[in-house]
Amino acid sequence: MIWQVTSPWSPLVAPLIFALLLQAPFSHPSTITQPNFVLLLADDLGIGDVGCYGNDTIRTPNIDGLAKEGVKLTQHIAAAPLCTPSRAAFLTGRYPLRSGMDAVNDYRVIFWNAGSGGLPPNETTFAKILQHQGYSTGLIGKWHQGVNCESRNDHCHHPLKHGFDYFYGMPFTLISDCQTTETPEMDRAFRRKLWISTQMIGLITLTAVLGRLTGLISVHWRTLTCLAVFSLLFFISWFSSYGFVRYWNCIMMRNHGITEQPMVTDRTTSLILRESISFIERNKHKPFLLFLSFLHSHTPLLTTEKFLGRSRHGLYGDNVEEMDWMVGQVLDAIDKEGLRETTLVYFASDHGGWLERQEGGRQLGGWNGIYKGGKAMGGWEGGIRVPGIFRWPGVLPAGTVIDEPTSLMDIYPTVVHLAGGEVPQDRVMDGRDLLPLLRGAAAHSEHEFLFHYCGVHLHAVRWHQKDTGAVWKAHYMTPIFSPPGAGACYDRGVCQCFGEGVAHHEPPLLFELSQDPSEAKPLSADTEPFFDTVIRKIGRAVEEHRRTLTPVPEQLSVSNVVWKPWLQPCCGTFPFCWCDKEGDNKLADL
Ligand SMILES: *[C@@H]1O[C@H](CO)[C@@H](O)[C@H](O)[C@H]1NC(C)=O
Ligand SMILES: *[C@@H]1O[C@H](CO)[C@@H](O)[C@H](O)[C@H]1NC(C)=O
Repeated sequence: MIWQVTSPWSPLVAPLIFALLLQAPFSHPSTITQPNFVLLLADDLGIGDVGCYGNDTIRTPNIDGLAKEGVKLTQHIAAAPLCTPSRAAFLTGRYPLRSGMDAVNDYRVIFWNAGSGGLPPNETTFAKILQHQGYSTGLIGKWHQGVNCESRNDHCHHPLKHGFDYFYGMPFTLISDCQTTETPEMDRAFRRKLWISTQMIGLITLTAVLGRLTGLISVHWRTLTCLAVFSLLFFISWFSSYGFVRYWNCIMMRNHGITEQPMVTDRTTSLILRESISFIERNKHKPFLLFLSFLHSHTPLLTTEKFLGRSRHGLYGDNVEEMDWMVGQVLDAIDKEGLRETTLVYFASDHGGWLERQEGGRQLGGWNGIYKGGKAMGGWEGGIRVPGIFRWPGVLPAGTVIDEPTSLMDIYPTVVHLAGGEVPQDRVMDGRDLLPLLRGAAAHSEHEFLFHYCGVHLHAVRWHQKDTGAVWKAHYMTPIFSPPGAGACYDRGVCQCFGEGVAHHEPPLLFELSQDPSEAKPLSADTEPFFDTVIRKIGRAVEEHRRTLTPVPEQLSVSNVVWKPWLQPCCGTFPFCWCDKEGDNKLADL
């Protein structure tokens, strides 16, 4: 043994070894590098749905436990109120309009796996940087950032092209069409549009035929044949479209291959959980990034039987409680592998709960607590203020609550710096490193202004006045609720971002969030002595912000969101796309 060596060097050797040991990773809090990251992102979960954010009837003990052992952010803000743009911002650390991932029209998310829009190949996700830093990177669950650009298998927008070594999950998003027992939401709209087009082209053909027969219109027979073929094609597509949305959009993939088309919803939850745990087990010996992007608690609320009828809030509550249980299972796996102290766990939701989603008087969307508005509303807090929790035992102080404004875009620089990487220098980054704030080394977040977009339209701006602690919020536009005063757009299903759907405010509606978090009482120049000063200050910030914007290709333009048969991911020979490679034997028993 080294201590028994009686050479004259031994008194020197021991301290030397000790000093070397001190430099080993993880032994010294200020030099901690390359922790594992487990990022848990819920879908459509409202801030009011979680126990540690004030819900006393829904049971979320595992998420609450993360807050107890870590840091809870009370003002954690999504960059957009809908999945596609919010997730694009999360992955790139930039406002979604910088990557062309926010809506210029009424198409505000990706609608088809067979659209051509998606996260542009020249955007750099944090996963890509972590990959270069030697991390093993996995995405399990929902993507909703596009698949192909020009051909069926170019996979230009696919997770594996965006820095993930491993992908298991849905390239698209859950919709009610995916569950055979539900009323299909997309099918209906799609079929209606197709039917109208079929009727129109049929009418034109008929007129042309009659015109030619009666000699009133001179139409070439070739034009007539063309029209007839088109009518027939439209009629066939309309006739066969029934139920096809499920085959086109509800698919599961492992890496580049389709495993289920359509997905078998009974298995999805257990497979996602099993894949997540197995990813942790496979990668425990090197630094890893696991982005578990839940399909919970998005409608149609896939819930396994074990959890049905257990909560006090119907199917929605059951689904949230099941997700919390899944969080617990993932945390158990981290513990079991002895990775508790070397893993930074993050939990958040992509945006607020969906108020308009009801069926037969049952609330199927989330609950945003005391905050006004919800999903699809870019300005009101309910659409963008979400749960945000970090846990890293031994590094982040346990049981801390931070009220500073932070953004989901902050995850990017935070994980990149911890991984020893550098954020891209050739573009504007909007996220800020959160570590100093989370560790208590900084009193304030670095965000002075946050811009709240609805599509590409700037609806509101938040100004954190650091010297007074005030958080001002000015709304330039707000959605017009329907019916009036209802607090949401029940007549339309979601609120709009522009045009007839919004009210413009000049001067802007101003609130001070630390006094009035529910945005109930707008301030005026009469009641607020700083009114004009605040509005001017925010106005200047908007001008400055606008100067940093440059035009980029619109990923959600009509030509990019429409369904293109030649881009349809298909596990057979198009249009015969169905397969089940998971098989019943793989049905996980968890
Ligand atoms: C808890 O969540 C449920 C389900 O969304 C909701 O109906 C209820 O109002 C919430 N309770 C509180 C106190 O926020
Ligand atoms: C990506 O390419 C588009 C189109 O050429 C360009 O407008 C955009 O600035 C590029 N983005 C980055 C981050 O380089």
